[in-house]
Amino acid sequence: MLAATPPMGFNTWNTFGGEINEQTIREVADALVGEGLKDLGYEYLVIDDCWAERERGSDGLMVPSREKFPGGMKALAEYVHSKGLKFGMYSCAGTLTCAKYPGSYDNEEIDAKTFASWDVDFLKYDFCNVPEGAHGRDLYAKMGEALRSSGREILFSLCEWGTNKPWEWGAGVGGHMWRTTGDISDSWKSIEHIGFSQSGHAKYAGPGHWNDPDMLVVGMYSKGNVASGGCTDTEYRTHFGLWCLLAAPLMIGCDPRNMTDETGAILKNEELIAVNQDALGRQGFRASREGKLEVLKKPLEHGSLAVGLFNRGDESARMTARWEDLGLEGDAAAKVRDLWAHEELGEFKGSFEAEVESHGSAIVRVTPV
Ligand code: GLA
Repeated sequence: MLAATPPMGFNTWNTFGGEINEQTIREVADALVGEGLKDLGYEYLVIDDCWAERERGSDGLMVPSREKFPGGMKALAEYVHSKGLKFGMYSCAGTLTCAKYPGSYDNEEIDAKTFASWDVDFLKYDFCNVPEGAHGRDLYAKMGEALRSSGREILFSLCEWGTNKPWEWGAGVGGHMWRTTGDISDSWKSIEHIGFSQSGHAKYAGPGHWNDPDMLVVGMYSKGNVASGGCTDTEYRTHFGLWCLLAAPLMIGCDPRNMTDETGAILKNEELIAVNQDALGRQGFRASREGKLEVLKKPLEHGSLAVGLFNRGDESARMTARWEDLGLEGDAAAKVRDLWAHEELGEFKGSFEAEVESHGSAIVRVTPV
């Protein structure tokens, strides 16, 4: 099954925007391998918008930019594959992409075949410039069908921003993930706005089909295409931990060629990745909320829970995760493990407390004993 667990990888948009070319993609592929990210599961290298010539060729096919990708996409795919990675590309359900390159409207079949002929493994499919009256679901169904008939297994990533509730029909049109929101930017405000509004979609996620609250901004520090003030490392940790609990696709948005140690430590946290990739495939959801203090829980296989205590407030706070809110018996004993410190905290009964800094998080695994 494709996307049996949330897809992981890298996408060019957040850092590079339109400033992409084959040399950069090769270097990113090298960095994903060299940094050990590939071995942790970050396997899809996805080229977002701005890869094409502005006009289709005389045969009606899309043409990769001759300036940015002189060697063509098939050769680039071959390089990416030779590194053990998978190769992703981007198109749009409208007549033009968001950056006004050719879209696939009315060309779904030939474009799907083109992507298949380039050995593409993943297609992100956007929603700009859709003709009036066309319904998102129909356009995505058309591309879904075209991909299935393309002769190649291609993961279908719907980028419809939640406009027509894609969580209700995304899986039905062959989607493996669907954006639930507008675009993320590199700011705490954006992370908070998106990340804490996802609980209601939890029931629609599962193996093979995931809600996508957009790509990671971890480690961007206000550089690149979606800069918006940047975040602190504490905020990036909260962002990553929250996305892991939400069973969100983990698409790196910073430049993997130049990560700080702290960024590497966040993106490579194996215990959090394991929570994200847990085989049960449950999306986490809110267990309790008191003002700006929120507790989320994500059921894991073998009866454990991943629990996040999130402090959205401006001051450090003493936070409590109560067993009754987690769905555990009040007097049950459970082992608690800190997934940031990689440390057993001991056995607790009834509740677990932690001091959580402003915009920070404590993320633990709770295992009834
Ligand atoms: C939309 C999408 C983004 C990105 C850009 C590219 O805004 O939501 O993720 O793909 O288009 O133009």
